[in-house]
Amino acid sequence: MDLSLRFRREMDKGLCRDTNPTAAVKMLPTFVCSTPDGTEQGEFLALDLGGCNFRVLLVKVMADGERKVEMENQIYAIPENLMRGCGSELFDHIADCLSNFMEKKGIKEKKLPLGFTFSFPCQQTKLDESVLLSWTKRFKASGVEGKDVVSLLRKAIQKRGDFDIDIVTVVNDTVGTMMTCGYDDQHCEIGLIVGTGTNACYMEQMRNLELLDGDEGRMCVNTEWGAFGDDGSLEDLRTDIDRELDAGSLNPGKQLFEKMIGEMYMGELVRLILLRMAKEQLLFQGKTTAELLTTGGFKTTDIYAIENDKWEGLASAEKVLRGLHLEPSKEDCIATQRVCQIVSTRAAHLCSATLAAVLRQIRDNKAAEKLRATIGVDGSVYKYHPEFSRRLNKMVRRLVPDCDVRFLLSQDGSGKGSAMVTAVAYRFAAQQA
Ligand code: BG6
Ligand code: GLC
Repeated sequence: MDLSLRFRREMDKGLCRDTNPTAAVKMLPTFVCSTPDGTEQGEFLALDLGGCNFRVLLVKVMADGERKVEMENQIYAIPENLMRGCGSELFDHIADCLSNFMEKKGIKEKKLPLGFTFSFPCQQTKLDESVLLSWTKRFKASGVEGKDVVSLLRKAIQKRGDFDIDIVTVVNDTVGTMMTCGYDDQHCEIGLIVGTGTNACYMEQMRNLELLDGDEGRMCVNTEWGAFGDDGSLEDLRTDIDRELDAGSLNPGKQLFEKMIGEMYMGELVRLILLRMAKEQLLFQGKTTAELLTTGGFKTTDIYAIENDKWEGLASAEKVLRGLHLEPSKEDCIATQRVCQIVSTRAAHLCSATLAAVLRQIRDNKAAEKLRATIGVDGSVYKYHPEFSRRLNKMVRRLVPDCDVRFLLSQDGSGKGSAMVTAVAYRFAAQQA
């Protein structure tokens, strides 16, 4: 509860014009002012960059009142050297994949509108202008921070000259997820990601969004809660292991809350704990191996297998530990399973505290005694960890018993949602023309 209140204060700090510049939790305006109403229609391209897969999609939204959406998509690899190399090469690669996809679908001659799910913190001034504040997760390409990613994408496409696209909207994956789920459930006003990283967005009252003029209506705010604690406000909760993981990360001192939760970090937290316990003679008869000493040696997917089921999980623990060339005893396997449970339960409970704060904010905005809210969710941890969703749901209900909360798993990724946002922007642009 204390953490939830702390996060609520961080939200206020980010929303308030005077305190926003120093706030860790940025509460970014998204310029998405409504959830889908079913009138969206058209044919759209979508890009989905920043999660564990990079996808190009073709989304057809029918206008026959049946809320029918047809989607075709393809996953393309992004080599590590492009994630952390030169930014213009990364955007050339994205344009390359887009060209390949359009060629395959026979739509290269069409000038289609494009929705870009770009899952990083961005300062937006409108839907089609999005300046990257800082890379997070696995990306660190040079020359992109501080730049508008729409211009970079347009430039890369123009340079090729073999196809063209129409207006582009940029949305965060939380927003894309909220819109994807909002198409099926009109109560959906929160988007949650617990995947490679973690973050949430929600529909906020314009009157509370001091960064923008205007008091009427609502706008979706991208909280960027992964940065909670970057100003030191979580130091009492962070452990030596959290600090060790951070020190060896791509972005030390940044995304400290995310580093306790995301798929990119949970396995590594477990590895660091096992290593520390081995060095203290508490596990593996004090032995370590080169594999246990290697960053990334223990994967978050190993946690999923180890927590799968008590007995099957213990067999998985043995397999994973043997894969690290250790010779685990039964007690070592039990202890490893326990470490996994502790790390992933902490992650679920941390997430539930911040989510409860968002729910209370929405409830207070509506001055409702009992809030009925749907949370659109996506991300590998939520989807594939055998216990995470149950633990999260249970703790959220405990923290906000006065909210009727429904979690709706996004079945279609965020591409469908970014097409919805593009559909509205496209209709609006056509009306202005
Ligand atoms: C996908 C969404 O389903 O989930 C992406 O389409 C999002 O936009 C991703 O970034 C998050 O999960 P993960 O595990 O891929 O980081
Ligand atoms: C990171 C990004 C954020 C994204 C989240 C989930 O926290 O900064 O924009 O929504 O990961 O993918």
